[in-house]
Amino acid sequence: MTERNVYNEADFLAGYLNLPRQVHGLSGAAEWAALRDLLPEIAGRRVVDLGCGLGRFSQWAAGQGAASVLGIDGSVEMLDRAEAEANSPKIVFRLADLNSLDLDLNSLHVDGQPTDIVFSSLALHYVRDLDRLLSIVAAALAPGGSLIFSVEHPIYSAPTTQGFVEVPRGDRVWPLNNYLIEGERLTDWFVEGVRKQHRTLATYMNSVIDAGFRLERLVEWGPHADQIEAGVGSIDDLHRPWFLLVKASLAAD
Ligand SMILES: C[S@@+](CC[C@H](N)C(=O)[O-])C[C@H]1O[C@@H](n2cnc3c(N)ncnc32)[C@H](O)[C@@H]1O
Repeated sequence: MTERNVYNEADFLAGYLNLPRQVHGLSGAAEWAALRDLLPEIAGRRVVDLGCGLGRFSQWAAGQGAASVLGIDGSVEMLDRAEAEANSPKIVFRLADLNSLDLDLNSLHVDGQPTDIVFSSLALHYVRDLDRLLSIVAAALAPGGSLIFSVEHPIYSAPTTQGFVEVPRGDRVWPLNNYLIEGERLTDWFVEGVRKQHRTLATYMNSVIDAGFRLERLVEWGPHADQIEAGVGSIDDLHRPWFLLVKASLAAD
């Protein structure tokens, strides 16, 4: 039986494609500036965008002078839209499952050469075996190569019910439970039963380290005061991080 990918479902897309980050592109993604700050020089580099969605980062990387960009996604609906929007011959989009055991990133790349930068925005919390995927990523990267990714923060992904509650004295609280119970979470997000994977912060970090990377930077991202003032997120978003941003690299040898 084919595995469900909600990014192929009309009901889900009707909501998802109206999010500010889809309507406005990277500038509509509240964490984009922080993620961009983690990126190394893009010009002349071979870039892979894992779970590229509509391909907005792939387009941006091509615009920054990347030598080539490979955007990978498991949704035909997302890739069709990405292809229609793409405006650079340097970008190639491929349909592939990040859960696949025989994923070979460089053979999907147009020139088959090692990759310099692997980027992933908000896709790795859908992947069941992160250790395996990160070992594939490490094998595809050239010495000195970089891995930059964002995921839902583990404090965000842990609870059985994601959402603030009001406690008796009137404080709004993120009900953190099941933090140490890793694995599948089913959430309702535009449609019922969206399947994601929860991992602790230690598991994310140790997976990166065990794949041979050196951790360079972590960001526990939430909106800045000026973003909240402008209507991006709310004061509640200061109670817990929203996203985890990670920068790691391989030794240059
Ligand atoms: C939240 S969207 C992020 C899209 C894009 N990176 C962005 O930041 O706008 C997650 C993307 O991951 C893709 N995805 C989820 N599970 C996947 C899998 N197993 N293999 C490949 N892509 C997957 C979805 O199809 C979707 O396009």
